[in-house]
Amino acid sequence: MPDGIIYEAGWTLDDINWSLFEASKVTPELLASVKAASLVEYNAPDYVSYLKRVFKDAPESVISTIEHWGEEEVQHGRALARWAELADPGFNFKAAFTRFRALYRPAHFVSGEGSVRGSRRGEMIARCVVESGTSSLYSAIRDAADEPVLKEVAGRIAADEFRHYRLFYDILTSESEPELPAWRKIWVAATRVNESDDDELACAYYCANVLPAEMPAQPYRRRRYARLYQSKVMAFYRRHHIDRLVKMVVKPAGLNPSGRICRMTSAFLWRLMMLRGYGTRADLRPA
Ligand SMILES: [Fe+2]
Ligand SMILES: [Fe+2]
Repeated sequence: MPDGIIYEAGWTLDDINWSLFEASKVTPELLASVKAASLVEYNAPDYVSYLKRVFKDAPESVISTIEHWGEEEVQHGRALARWAELADPGFNFKAAFTRFRALYRPAHFVSGEGSVRGSRRGEMIARCVVESGTSSLYSAIRDAADEPVLKEVAGRIAADEFRHYRLFYDILTSESEPELPAWRKIWVAATRVNESDDDELACAYYCANVLPAEMPAQPYRRRRYARLYQSKVMAFYRRHHIDRLVKMVVKPAGLNPSGRICRMTSAFLWRLMMLRGYGTRADLRPA
């Protein structure tokens, strides 16, 4: 469950109190991260089309769930874009999104019928990993932000992302396909975690934060912009965000969220972040 205020599903941009915005409380790190996130969220219709192809034989209720999920993700993009344009009037979301669409075109979005994870169950495990990542990210942004409107926007989005996790987990557990072997579930979850530094986030960070006039001198390099994105967002995380993230990731992989492997992974991940200069020393102990 998200911390603090619990926001209900079904909110709109009109529910956000935009008049509370305080420009003096915007930080460059939050601004750069929110700009990048707005592009990824707004690109959800491509994921919806892909998932509908993967689940083409599934009951109608699954298809309508996927469509509703996509609408909520697009709304996340619109809310983040509106905040970013408020915080930086020079930011043109529509133009940045056009650049992003031109740069990021993965093959499975363009064509193909089956899941790139090899099965519908694998696809749902991967979706749970992604929703674990987004729920922890927006929780971390909400807790790191002093700017009141961003705090609210991130809080509302985080609540949606926790619900999305539950939704995909429920589809996974009600799936008619045969159960995957334990090693395969762990493999799918681990490979999806490893993709968190893939082209999508790097492309989004580049298109949102490098001005078109600067692009010839600063061409896109996946590793460079993946690292820049990671260095910005990982600084928002605290130990309890990581603990919850790991618990959420291991569950669909078939591991015990309260078990020793989960605790060790969480501790290892946090220490790795500390070694890389993220987080604070005060958070070394679990919250
Ligand atoms: Fe989202
Ligand atoms: Fe989501």
